[in-house]
Amino acid sequence: MSDILLSVENLEAWYGDAKVLHGLSFELKQGEVLALIGSNGAGKSTLFKSICGLLQKKTGRIAFKNEVITTLVANAIVAKGIALVPEGRKLFPSLSVEENLILGGNVGRKGPWSLQSIYNLFPILKEKRNAPSTSLSGGQQQMVAIGRGLMSNPDLILLDELSLGLAPIVIKDIYDMLPKIIGNGLTAILVEQDVTRALASSQQFLCIQEGRISLEGAPHAFTKDQISAAYFGM
Ligand SMILES: Nc1ncnc2c1ncn2[C@@H]1O[C@H](COP(=O)(O)OP(=O)(O)O)[C@@H](O)[C@H]1O
Ligand SMILES: [Mg+2]
Repeated sequence: MSDILLSVENLEAWYGDAKVLHGLSFELKQGEVLALIGSNGAGKSTLFKSICGLLQKKTGRIAFKNEVITTLVANAIVAKGIALVPEGRKLFPSLSVEENLILGGNVGRKGPWSLQSIYNLFPILKEKRNAPSTSLSGGQQQMVAIGRGLMSNPDLILLDELSLGLAPIVIKDIYDMLPKIIGNGLTAILVEQDVTRALASSQQFLCIQEGRISLEGAPHAFTKDQISAAYFGM
């Protein structure tokens, strides 16, 4: 069996008439962590939404575990084993912490993650399990968003800007947790504004600029200047 978990071929995506992704192709191996970098508006979140079935106006081919998923809707894709931790967390504000987590597990996939293992990972969430999700701090809400994604026991997790709007100390706490989340062979794509942090946490990276891949490979194969040039489009 091939060890390619995700394969994206010539992906193009639109919002209305505005084309945002211009033919992206890449592969992700089982167990790999891929950093997806690129400046604001490059198309990182759009790529995630396209993979997860949250954006339907697209062409190209997306295959997961050798099965084409390009036209599946979001729920079906979660059931196949892809979880998104979206930019801005997007918790259900009227629900408690625990209800948000339980919703993440609704697809009924078996695996290591349960309410108990999420609470072991983030003990503060157990203390606050009955609190409305909106009453939590930004960092705690991010923990809920990560936990909700893990509750579906994904084979691939897409992490979109975990540190957005959080204080440096909280960001450090979340990144200290990351090996416990993706260290057990879970395949991940990590979008992070802090490029140094993203590259340090990954084996491969993909830099996109205005919806096109501008550089890709192993982080140590390039100089900082080469990566900056690909990032800023110099
Ligand atoms: N819902 C939307 N409707 C229209 N245009 C959008 C929408 N979301 C994003 N865009 C545009 O698509 C481009 C890529 O955005 P996005 O994928 O969010 O970038 P990134 O995540 O890399 O910052 C930007 O030009 C952005 O303005
Ligand atoms: Mg984004």
